[in-house]
Amino acid sequence: MRPHGVGHVLAALPGETMNHEAWKTLLAAESLPCAIVDLDAVDHNLALLRAARAREDVTLRVATKSVRVPAVLRHLREHGGSALRGWMPWSAGETRALFEQGFDDFLMGYPVARPQEADTLAALAADGAQVIACVDDAHHVAVLAEAARAHGTEVPVCIDVDLSLRPAAGVHLGVRRSPHRDAVSVVALARRIAEAEGVRLAAVLAYEAQVAGLADRAPGTALKRPVLRWLKARSVALARERRSAVLEALEREGHAIAVVNGGGTGSLRTTSAEAAVTEVTVGSGFLCPHLFDHYDGLPLRPAAFFALPICRRSDPDHVTCLTGGFIASGAPGPDRLPQVHSPPGLTPVALEGWGEVQTPFRCGRDAPQLRLGDPVIARHAKAGELFEHFREVLLVRGGAVVDRVPTLRGTGWGYGG
Ligand SMILES: Cc1ncc(COP(=O)(O)O)c(C=O)c1O
Repeated sequence: MRPHGVGHVLAALPGETMNHEAWKTLLAAESLPCAIVDLDAVDHNLALLRAARAREDVTLRVATKSVRVPAVLRHLREHGGSALRGWMPWSAGETRALFEQGFDDFLMGYPVARPQEADTLAALAADGAQVIACVDDAHHVAVLAEAARAHGTEVPVCIDVDLSLRPAAGVHLGVRRSPHRDAVSVVALARRIAEAEGVRLAAVLAYEAQVAGLADRAPGTALKRPVLRWLKARSVALARERRSAVLEALEREGHAIAVVNGGGTGSLRTTSAEAAVTEVTVGSGFLCPHLFDHYDGLPLRPAAFFALPICRRSDPDHVTCLTGGFIASGAPGPDRLPQVHSPPGLTPVALEGWGEVQTPFRCGRDAPQLRLGDPVIARHAKAGELFEHFREVLLVRGGAVVDRVPTLRGTGWGYGG
């Protein structure tokens, strides 16, 4: 990382008690809007996540879509030690982009269905990349096998097993991804893989999204918490039983499964406690977007921010910032909106929200005196999506800007394709 000349040293760190004057000093020489990653908070989160593993032999695989900044991925690799192993990319194109940036050991979290993407993965395997593709359908197996044969190589694959909870007919609690919900159907797909020339079964992936991605104490959910606790307890038991049943069945069929992946940031403890699991995928926890503020026993520190400049004032108790948007993906709702981190007392205006090019805020009693040109610091609801809006990120350590690095988008590759 290239040292950066600005280097304002501050008394407190961004995610902790840094007041608005300190943020202003930090950003005095910067063009706004800008994105910021606090490396001290990343290190805190990394240490916390390593320690949260129930077993030390369970490694952490980084969900790259939840980071999207190559220098931060490298930082995790350098500081994660033996606790970190490999990357979980989202698409074939992203995997290629990361391989070209010097990353290797990929387990794809999502399947590819088109020959073009299968070709990208097969070409990577032929180039010597360690890449395990994800499958849950005979179609995925067929396109990968054909691409592998065309490249004279073999593509290892991973079967995605569904862990959604279906407590009653018509009730589905979890993600809609894989159709494989029992050992019989997983074994049937494993047989298709064994028959196809060009692919081999190497891993099993099972993601309990309704445990990993649902906060325990999200604001406004107090009444729903008993139901949430029940849902999570049932889902943890289901994950344990299904993963072990699937693995036993695959072993009986003669498959040696070296990698058993599960979980996410919010299920790290329970997933890593399962005997069958060899690794847990973690992404959001490193940067702690605001949706990750409310998990029990996981005191992560906010590590990713964006700063917007105040550019006009329509009324004495309002300020308007240049730019906006930054709404997170997922089921639409207020929890998908960014949160103002600093200064205190700023509320987005209901009629406009986080606008397309401008975002007005009402300044409450606790807001400090704000001037045109001052920054407003905010946090995204999700981790990696913020960096799709920026080409560059300021890295902060010890309260000083220590580097400015490109996002993956800034290197020329974006999540659109
Ligand atoms: C397959 C899979 N594993 C793990 C995760 C968890 O990632 P994170 O820790 O960023 O929530 C995700 C997130 O969507 C996922 O799709």
